[in-house]
Amino acid sequence: MYPIKTLTWFLLLSMIFSSCQDQQQVASQSPEPTPSFRSTGPVGGPFENGDFYLIGLPEHIPPVDTSPGWDQPGQRLLIQGTIYHQDGQTPAPGVVMYYYHTDIQGVYANREGLDPQVVRHGYIRGWVQSDDNGHYAIYTVCPGPYPGTDFPAHIHPAIKEPDIENAYYIDEFVFDDDPLLTPEKRSEMENRGGSGILTCIQREDLLVADRDIILGRNIPNYPTSARD
Ligand SMILES: [Fe+2]
Repeated sequence: MYPIKTLTWFLLLSMIFSSCQDQQQVASQSPEPTPSFRSTGPVGGPFENGDFYLIGLPEHIPPVDTSPGWDQPGQRLLIQGTIYHQDGQTPAPGVVMYYYHTDIQGVYANREGLDPQVVRHGYIRGWVQSDDNGHYAIYTVCPGPYPGTDFPAHIHPAIKEPDIENAYYIDEFVFDDDPLLTPEKRSEMENRGGSGILTCIQREDLLVADRDIILGRNIPNYPTSARD
């Protein structure tokens, strides 16, 4: 009796141990779960006054806009380009880009009729929406740098994609020939949406700059695992 009982326990324990081993082997042989990006906040991260783009947002947004700064007595500027999906090749239609910038004195200037909520953006602001080919164009005036500072002249762009709930900012548009755009300032740029440095070409009385935008590029919390 005793040896048989011992043998039974031995067999039973052997079966349990064997079963555990099998499970461990199965677990270790299972493929690793595919790494996927998990959002930890709004797309693009914190964005102060990120809803300002909604103030005065037109119902119909054309792909080409002429800013209220166009009439200023400064250097006229055309910024144009294509908005691409993350692959950098497929045009992205229907993407809204909000922009605002200082006047030629470097001030976010107020103007009668400007919504009080958005005074800090100044009156030189507007929107474009990429067309079926992803194209957009903004006619405006070259902004001046903030008076008395070493901050380069710039234009603030923000992107609102159809399938993303919030707007997010991309790299400011700055000017390659701006002496304030030092190597140190260049190195601090995040290249959100691609490089924001504009190389302008003079065409008669107009400066023309091409600025393509790649959605999701260097944008935190972008909903894909393929960020660069
Ligand atoms: Fe600014």
